[in-house]
Amino acid sequence: MTNVVVVGGQWGDEGKGKVVDLLCPAFADVVRFNGGNNAGHTVKFADRHFALHLIPSGIVQPGCRCLVGPGVVIDPVAFLEELRMLEEQAVSVRPRLMISPRAHLVLPGHRAIDVAREAASGKGKLGTTGRGIGPTYEARARRTGVRLGLARSPKRLREAVAAASADLEQALARYPAAAVPSPAEIDAAVEAALALAPLLGDVAGALADSDAAGRPILFEGAQGTLLDIDHGTYPFVTSSGCLAGFAAPACGLPARVIGGVLGVFKAYVTRVGSGPFPTELSGGTGEHLRRRGNEFGTTTGRPRRTGWFDAVAARAAVRWSGIDAVALTKLDVLDELAEIRIATAYEIAGRAVEGFPDDADDVAGAAPVYETLPGWQADSAAVTAFDKLPELARRYVARLEELLGVPVVVVSTGPRREETIVRRVPPLTDWNTGL
Ligand code: GDP
Ligand code: IMO
Ligand code: MG
Repeated sequence: MTNVVVVGGQWGDEGKGKVVDLLCPAFADVVRFNGGNNAGHTVKFADRHFALHLIPSGIVQPGCRCLVGPGVVIDPVAFLEELRMLEEQAVSVRPRLMISPRAHLVLPGHRAIDVAREAASGKGKLGTTGRGIGPTYEARARRTGVRLGLARSPKRLREAVAAASADLEQALARYPAAAVPSPAEIDAAVEAALALAPLLGDVAGALADSDAAGRPILFEGAQGTLLDIDHGTYPFVTSSGCLAGFAAPACGLPARVIGGVLGVFKAYVTRVGSGPFPTELSGGTGEHLRRRGNEFGTTTGRPRRTGWFDAVAARAAVRWSGIDAVALTKLDVLDELAEIRIATAYEIAGRAVEGFPDDADDVAGAAPVYETLPGWQADSAAVTAFDKLPELARRYVARLEELLGVPVVVVSTGPRREETIVRRVPPLTDWNTGL
């Protein structure tokens, strides 16, 4: 029995939803530990298509319990909508779902501040998802946040939301163009939070019991390593921790419960929002990757920026999250390219640098040093066995393994669950995932 963390190795949208869906039948519990509905995790199989934002991707497969940990910030209206969307699609949700009372609520005022600040920042904007994530984590750190647990007492919840909303309204006064939430919007948030009260439960306790009984836990990361608040390209990051090691303490579990870390990486790189991106492609190849990879945000629909695989950043992600093995997604998107590049080092102010800089300006000023590999210009799409991949595609995967120093155990060749290559090698075979 091994508890496994699935994390994004890049700037998010690596395909974590697909990978969690693939692994989850072997796990008793799937838990989200960070972020909020800034995340958009896609699960596709047969002709079904789900976009999950707050509920763990494990919900799509019957069987496992899905938990939302204390470190997640919850927009209650969005959460209820997601519940309804799943129920309309005949997925049984409520009996398998548990939310931590410690999770903070994203209030309409948090969203309004997020949007107003971005609008006022002009060119310097972060490109947030506008979901109120930053202001909610700020309120948590200022100790003026409202936790979902208050929904067990409607009176206390109403009072806390009213006080927080008045405070947020004052903060909004700095932005004359801001849309101040109406009393009806605030009421709707309160009602939605009250509707979630029956789902509250002791997430840390439930997970500790699972661990003690040998029932394996899958931790589902949101965002990606380079969006981590401390280690990412600050300030162009999200407001929570995104590294794998954060998963256990964020859920109230000791760090030692983590047995394995699967890092999800695209075969190239994408980023939504602002911030440095050394291997970004602005021309035809970038557009080709966007079109062929359908690189439009799951949450906001924004076009994603695209670029070559960045082994400098990826090596940092492997180190920071202790990634033991890689799930490499969207290999099929590279099928038509005549040549494919990988950044193996950066040059900053004329100096070769192999580590990932701590300063976003240095990352922005980094010139990637590229290695060029021949493209396979053949179909990898929907291939399900590694030896059926074009030889040059296998060579590309092998080169990434060399550069990252960890094995690629899953190769994804299409958006659907069925379009996946599983390589039955350690450490995947040690994790008892049944794959
Ligand atoms: P997440 O946030 O990490 O879960 O990733 P998203 O769901 O936001 O974005 C990944 C997108 O790529 C989704 O639209 C997936 O359906 C799609 N996808 C995942 N794996 C593959 C793949 O191997 N090939 C292709 N073509 N699409 C994929
Ligand atoms: P998943 O889980 C991609 C990015 C935003 C912005 C920055 C800050 O689907 O991979 P925020 O709204 O968090 O304050 O925005 O972080 N961002 C993501 N980008 N995938 C995500 O989640 C993201 N969550 C946040 O685009 O650049
Ligand atoms: Mg996403």
